[in-house]
Amino acid sequence: MTTATTATEPVALQFDLLSQAFKENPFPTLARLRAAGPVIRVRFPLLGKAWMATTYDAVNELLRDHQRFVQNPIAAGNRWMGRIVRWLPGSLKPLATNMLLRDPPDHRRLRGLVDQAFQRQSIEALRPRLEALADQALDRLAGQAARAPGGVDLLAHFARPFPLSVICELLGLPPEDRPKFTRWAARFTTSTNAAGILWGLVSGLSRMMRYIREEFRRQTRHPRGGLVAALIEAEEAGDRLTEDELVAMVFLLLAAGHETTLHQITCSVLTLFDHPRQLAELTADWRLADSAAQELLRYISFAQFSKPRYAREDTEFFGQPIRRGQMLLACLAAANADPSVFDNPDRLDIHRQPNRHVAFGAGIHVCLGAKLARVETAIALERLFTRFPRLELAVPRSHIRYLSRPGTRALVGLPVRW
Ligand code: HEM
Repeated sequence: MTTATTATEPVALQFDLLSQAFKENPFPTLARLRAAGPVIRVRFPLLGKAWMATTYDAVNELLRDHQRFVQNPIAAGNRWMGRIVRWLPGSLKPLATNMLLRDPPDHRRLRGLVDQAFQRQSIEALRPRLEALADQALDRLAGQAARAPGGVDLLAHFARPFPLSVICELLGLPPEDRPKFTRWAARFTTSTNAAGILWGLVSGLSRMMRYIREEFRRQTRHPRGGLVAALIEAEEAGDRLTEDELVAMVFLLLAAGHETTLHQITCSVLTLFDHPRQLAELTADWRLADSAAQELLRYISFAQFSKPRYAREDTEFFGQPIRRGQMLLACLAAANADPSVFDNPDRLDIHRQPNRHVAFGAGIHVCLGAKLARVETAIALERLFTRFPRLELAVPRSHIRYLSRPGTRALVGLPVRW
């Protein structure tokens, strides 16, 4: 249960942002959040008290005002969050150096390096290779379905392996190591209690970090021609990255590069099952794939919240007095459903134009993989529904469950048949 209060009253309103009902249909709650104010006081189970921006304008301003709102709690004088970083086990400390948690000028230096390497090949030029990887993943899905005539989990056997193979190929990580990432990532998601989630996180993360460090050593001797090798080269040429920063960067790309897109693909398929007329329109004209992918990003808003920001100074924000060091979050899902920007926001409309959603955030931390994720989702849908035009749910709709993880709208699985 997430509790919302105003600045003067300790507890004014309550919102359950973890329930199945909210994950299944967040729109009524998002409307209540916005109605409570553009910036409201909330309490999260693990994070504690924070301010939450709920409207399109407040979300954009929070994410774009890098003078007042920063990523690094220590720079904003938030000693409590600073202490958490210090308490991280040694093997996980480098994670705190990842660019999503850094401010300029460090953020600019790190993002500049990876932007260059990432854009070396344009995403459009990658399209044929992405299609081939999607088809390979579909071959395995078909093989799995042949062994399980009652239905096959689309998440485990297509939506995860496809983006995982894409990001591993971009990074230049050996294909034979992919099953390990799947096992480690599964540790983050299978537990339901707080202790289990924490333990799963620490053990899964530690293994990933160890693997990445060893991979750097291997690729320093024998480069494999991907982003890891390009980053090692950048480090050796200009000494602009520490080893910890390298490890944190690859970890961020590996985790953000597939754990997000896989849920976007799975939720997109479910959303299209729920909207059969729009699915029929899309399968009849795949030129709609890009605008459909954009609308599915807005409508699903997989990342419901941004990462925390911290006020660098005492300030006033949309009428609320914010004290130095206080934490703020942007509710991306509420901004994407703001009726002052989107007509009928709770309706899926694969033709929606313009569609200025903030599913990828905004400002200097806007998602590095936005274009890749969009193209991957469009390709996944096109290849999947073209190959299996009679794809359908293998269980009653009411059996579909969401992970009760805070901040994301992600399915536990999606059993399908054709
Ligand atoms: C549908 C899929 C995806 C969604 C919804 C998504 C969403 C987001 C959001 C909301 C942020 C900003 C968070 C904030 O400001 O607090 C972000 C940042 C980021 N994303 Fe994604 N993402 C997706 C796919 C990807 C992919 C495929 C990659 C990797 C190639 C990626 C890499 C990153 C990185 C590196 C950042 C940090 C950027 C920075 O700090 O400058 N994401 N993403």
